[in-house]
Amino acid sequence: MEDKIKAIEARVQEFVIDTRDKLEHFRLQFISKKGEVSLLFDELKALSAEQKKLVGKALNELKKFSEEKFKLSQEQLESNTAATTFTGDLTLPVIPGKTGGQHPLSLTRYRIIEIFERLGFNVEDGPEIEDDWHNFTALNFPENHPAREMQDTFFIEKNPDVLLRTHTSNVQIRLMKNRKPPFRAIMPGRVYRNEAISARAHCFFHQVEGLYVDTNVGFADLKQTLYHFAKEMFGKETKIRLRPSFFPFTEPSAEIDISCLICHGKGCNVCKYSGWVEIAGSGMVHPNVLRNCGIDPEVFTGFAFGMGIERITMLRYSINDLRLFSENDLRFLKQFKPVM
Ligand code: DAH
Repeated sequence: MEDKIKAIEARVQEFVIDTRDKLEHFRLQFISKKGEVSLLFDELKALSAEQKKLVGKALNELKKFSEEKFKLSQEQLESNTAATTFTGDLTLPVIPGKTGGQHPLSLTRYRIIEIFERLGFNVEDGPEIEDDWHNFTALNFPENHPAREMQDTFFIEKNPDVLLRTHTSNVQIRLMKNRKPPFRAIMPGRVYRNEAISARAHCFFHQVEGLYVDTNVGFADLKQTLYHFAKEMFGKETKIRLRPSFFPFTEPSAEIDISCLICHGKGCNVCKYSGWVEIAGSGMVHPNVLRNCGIDPEVFTGFAFGMGIERITMLRYSINDLRLFSENDLRFLKQFKPVM
């Protein structure tokens, strides 16, 4: 019996525990109910009282020693799991972590903000759930005027009307109503329209509104600002063209086109063989809009513009389907710059 104890003790001592598997192996082999140490206690019962005294002490010591070794190894494994399980080559270059990336619409939004901030524009924000007055009436859309039909609206409540804003122009009103001119701001955000989803339309999308109101702001300022923007955004060679248009909140109004980036004016299916691509609506702020916000149009004038972030992103990266932006397909999203 004493020899057995010594032999087991030697094996307990030699047993190397450097993984969780080996720890469990050790437990089963020696200290579990059917382990070798426990079985020796059964054998002890058969001995005479005198022998029990003699061997019992040694056996108890073996039990204590085995249990302590188990406990110590367990603590060690828990505290440095990483260090003890790493068996690779430490000199290899690190594998880049999966940090995620920025959405292409965010990349474009940041770029637009960057360009206008350098011209002294602040970034302003406004609500997506809006009342009729800020989204339409104050912007000089007469009630029941067909111009309201240009933007098919999601109404949340009727009388008084609460709706999902159809454009970011509501922020112009909130800004002019709440603060004193001059204003030089851009207002990015999400907008909603009740449109069937296709490659070219979606029920929600993003715009950036721009507003510059001061004494002596003229049409030339509008033109030069947007020309500067187009060159910064799409490259020095880019040209712009202004086409007469109509918006209730600007007079005169113009659609801003840029020369087609794909065919450089020769004609292709992106520009529908015209050589030009529309990027924004714009115009001089209508005197009624200024008046609705308590600003004297005899003293202050201004220009405004609104552009679609999706449209600009599609041109920038040659993306041909609007749905890609909201499908969350990693094969698409992974192609854009990761966050650093
Ligand atoms: N709000 C217009 C739209 O969503 C875009 C727009 C046009 C904004 C002309 C403006 C502007 O500020 O001056 O279609």
